[in-house]
Amino acid sequence: MQSFPYRDGELYCENVPMAKLAEQYGTPLWVYSKSFILGQLKQIQTAFAEVDPVICYSVKANSTLGILRVIRDAGCGFDVVSGGELYRVKAAGGDTSKVVFAGVGKTDEEIRFALENDILMFDVESEQELDAIAAVADSMGKVARVVLRLNPDIDAKTHAKTTTGKKGNKFGMDIERFRELAAKVLRDKRLALKGIHMHLGSPILTTGPYAAAGQKAIEVVEALRLDGHDINWINLGGGFGISYRGNEGLPASAYAEVIVPAVQQAKCRLALEPGRFVVGNSCVLVSKVVYTKREGGKLFVIQDAAMNDLIRPAMYDSFHRVWPVRPATPMPENVEGEIVGCEKTDLVGPVCESSDYFAKDRYLPKMQRGDLVATFSAGAYGTAMSSNYNSRPRATEVLVDGSTVTVIRRRETYADLVAHELS
Ligand code: LLP
Repeated sequence: MQSFPYRDGELYCENVPMAKLAEQYGTPLWVYSKSFILGQLKQIQTAFAEVDPVICYSVKANSTLGILRVIRDAGCGFDVVSGGELYRVKAAGGDTSKVVFAGVGKTDEEIRFALENDILMFDVESEQELDAIAAVADSMGKVARVVLRLNPDIDAKTHAKTTTGKKGNKFGMDIERFRELAAKVLRDKRLALKGIHMHLGSPILTTGPYAAAGQKAIEVVEALRLDGHDINWINLGGGFGISYRGNEGLPASAYAEVIVPAVQQAKCRLALEPGRFVVGNSCVLVSKVVYTKREGGKLFVIQDAAMNDLIRPAMYDSFHRVWPVRPATPMPENVEGEIVGCEKTDLVGPVCESSDYFAKDRYLPKMQRGDLVATFSAGAYGTAMSSNYNSRPRATEVLVDGSTVTVIRRRETYADLVAHELS
């Protein structure tokens, strides 16, 4: 990966050696490449340019202010799912007129906060939510812009815990009830229906589900227009996959190839909510080996990063490439299966749970106490899902821009851990 190259046997982020960063800021340490994030955004903007998309970066993937600012400066909007995320967008100086608000459980307070900030639109997920938005808008003398979230019943073949577009998931509304609900919006002067929303799941590594969603969108938009709705937005959510293992990720242009023609046929504007695609491969989590041990016929490498930092392997059995920062054996293209000069290893953290591992039965170069380890593709759903479990302070985050390093979040202290407790 060009933002995280090995040069002369050691890992860099852009022009800065990882080992230098680890020495200066300690471990665990999240290291981001600014140019990678900008490159991904540019890729999406270029691929979808024909339909002049509004790119609403999905804040849930990584909500650190320093990251949101990079994305704001690139001209993007934001997809939020809570009042807290909207607060973060504002704190980062984001343009709230380019914010979409999704999620199945928006409270009246969150709806009010969003209306006060004149967001672009609400992705509405239920009939009761429509009623709640109408009531809050009425109390403020405002008209709320809404798009209805459709459950398209498309199997995007993602992990069971991250699929969203199949019937029976909690998200969106069934296609059969859609026209009825849209008619309700038409009768309600406090609501303005702007279009439709779909999010199929995450991560999606083929274009087929988006092609199918595009066709459904055309049908639904045409049907709604026949019913008298003046709608012009299709929001196709996020979900673009990335390379965690090798080169399995598709370029944005592959998704654009199937999405752009559908949006053009429907004569609509396009909103997208990419998260992982923008930040996933922008970050490496650097940790330090605390101990190694051989027990039960296995080699364990115990590091100072854990499931409280990166929960994805424990939660979804996710695969992340891991490799030493100064390896005895260069990292091969394919890190799965047997590798000459390496030994089958479990890379684990210090948290008291068997699910606290980053890599299981992985062929890795020899490591010893004090060695640094890189966990790749840690930018999406890494820090955003991190916790203080086992009373472990959250780690430092640094943003690298060429040779310049900025601390965007400092390491938490023990005092931070108890700061909110009152007695
Ligand atoms: N829009 C909506 C409505 C979503 O629910 C999501 C993700 C996105 C956009 C952004 O999806 P992305 O482009 O990042 O794939 N924690 C899991 C992923 C959960 C995704 C939740 N929704 C993981 O670590 O894989």
